[in-house]
Amino acid sequence: MQKAAETNQPIHALLANRWSPRAFSSQPVETEKLLQLFEAARWSASGGNSQPWAFIVVTQNDREAFDHLVGTTMGFNTVWVQKAPVLVLTVAKPGRPGTPLGKFSHYDVGQAVAHLSIQASAMGLYVHQMGGFDAEKARTLFNLPAETEPMTLVAIGYYGNMEELPEELQARETLPRTRKPISEFVFGPSWNTPLQLP
Ligand SMILES: Cc1cc2nc3c(=O)[nH]c(=O)nc-3n(C[C@H](O)[C@H](O)[C@H](O)COP(=O)(O)O)c2cc1C
Repeated sequence: MQKAAETNQPIHALLANRWSPRAFSSQPVETEKLLQLFEAARWSASGGNSQPWAFIVVTQNDREAFDHLVGTTMGFNTVWVQKAPVLVLTVAKPGRPGTPLGKFSHYDVGQAVAHLSIQASAMGLYVHQMGGFDAEKARTLFNLPAETEPMTLVAIGYYGNMEELPEELQARETLPRTRKPISEFVFGPSWNTPLQLP
């Protein structure tokens, strides 16, 4: 299903066409395509090139781990996520061994996932990030070291059949995509003052 952004300025089609579906097909993602997604994440920028991210990848083939990971999700996520062929736990690590986790680790993980998402968009794959999961349960599940922080769960796969979603999720699937206007978040030289360009 196409849900291209209705943009006010022309942007690259890959960015406009990316969206976060819930109707995933259970068709497996080819290994080489999955590797391409992580290669895209790998080449993301990061503070001091510290690359403070880790990705725990669980496919439907790892049935037990997959079910356990689904068990960490909350609310509606538990319903739609079951079909996704691949789930990824994104994890922030300290920028340098022995240092505490800092804000740039969080920043950099998000940016790496953005890279991955756009690469997915270029390959006809879809990505849906989730904050609605129990991060501490996920930490225990995968024995994450104390100095790391589980950030998001990310579902990856091909688009499926919207009619297989419960009604309420079907309704959400077809909601128009909206964004705040640029004037609400792009400021001139003072806070909350929309940028004025000649
Ligand atoms: C950090 C983060 C957490 C999110 N958590 C959830 C979630 O728990 N469940 C969900 O269905 N979508 C979740 N989303 C998806 C957003 O709702 C979605 O990206 C947003 O509504 C914009 O829609 P679009 O990606 O289709 O443009 C999350 C996205 C991000 C980046």
